[in-house]
Amino acid sequence: MKAKMKDGSKADIKAIWFENGKVRMIDQRELPLELVIVDFDDYRDVAEAIRNMTTRGAPCIGASAAYAMCLAGLKDEDLDEAAKFIKAARPTAYDLFYATDWMYAKLKAGADPIEAADEYSNITVDKCRAIGKFGGELIKDGMTLMTHCNAGALATVDVGTALAPMRQAHDDGKEFFVYASETRPRLQGMQLTAWELNQEDIDHAIIPDGSAAYYMSKGVDMIIVGADRIAANGDFANKIGTFDKAIVAKHFGIPFYVAAPVSTFDFNTGSGKDIVIEQRSETEMTEVKGIRIAPIGSKAMNPAFDVTPAEFVTGFITEKGIFKPSEISRMKE
Ligand code: MRU
Repeated sequence: MKAKMKDGSKADIKAIWFENGKVRMIDQRELPLELVIVDFDDYRDVAEAIRNMTTRGAPCIGASAAYAMCLAGLKDEDLDEAAKFIKAARPTAYDLFYATDWMYAKLKAGADPIEAADEYSNITVDKCRAIGKFGGELIKDGMTLMTHCNAGALATVDVGTALAPMRQAHDDGKEFFVYASETRPRLQGMQLTAWELNQEDIDHAIIPDGSAAYYMSKGVDMIIVGADRIAANGDFANKIGTFDKAIVAKHFGIPFYVAAPVSTFDFNTGSGKDIVIEQRSETEMTEVKGIRIAPIGSKAMNPAFDVTPAEFVTGFITEKGIFKPSEISRMKE
């Protein structure tokens, strides 16, 4: 992804990579104010970085897990213990489990840890490029789009899922406009999606979460979001607030697409009711940068995701093409 550096130059940077014996990643908690790179040489610290959302977004959580397993492999740690520890970092994003198992199998088969983790990461980016090609064709000149949370390069190592079709359409010279909903409480839409759209010079505006119905009533041509886990029947978990948008989109007849690699599909989970929804700390709701903004004594609830039933999905944009919910099983072929 493009990133403006402090000296004004533009660098090409990934959300996570391996360099000089360390896993290096963008600290996504510091954007958009600062581009901070942090590094780790212990798999436990990478797992903690997943938990505290230094690194985040389903496919990037997957790549982070792959690099955590890489560190475990390099240090001859107990791989079963490492895999268990890494998988406990967050419960919802399926890529975390998929990537940890993928790396476990590679390491057990004697693969070089760095080569294997780099391979996983590169495959993730290649899939995003393919998602961009398929999804880019849906975007026409003059369209108004909406997205939620951050499903861009930061969330996927590079390129993005929901943002990949937008990047592709922009590269193809199409003109369009994007509403990025702020995404309370951690503001991934305002701080990360808007940062990425800015770096790419894609025309956009940040909107309050609660204004999505208002803007849809004024005219939105298509909504594209990412996903953290997609069940076998097409129900999917994504950032809290996605379900609201899907309901309103249906009300106005607006096509609602979910962009995700096949690694986000959990074919062992039959429906959305079996997806575990992460409950995060109350302080993410009640505090801003460590300052309490809610009354002392009020409880807060902070579910990180919701589940949108398959009936609200127009199509899943994957690296294998675009599938209706009823066509998902074809993906396994
Ligand atoms: O809690 P987060 O920031 O990890 O949640 C991220 C999302 O919900 C994204 O929309 C999803 O992971 C898709 S990322 C390409």
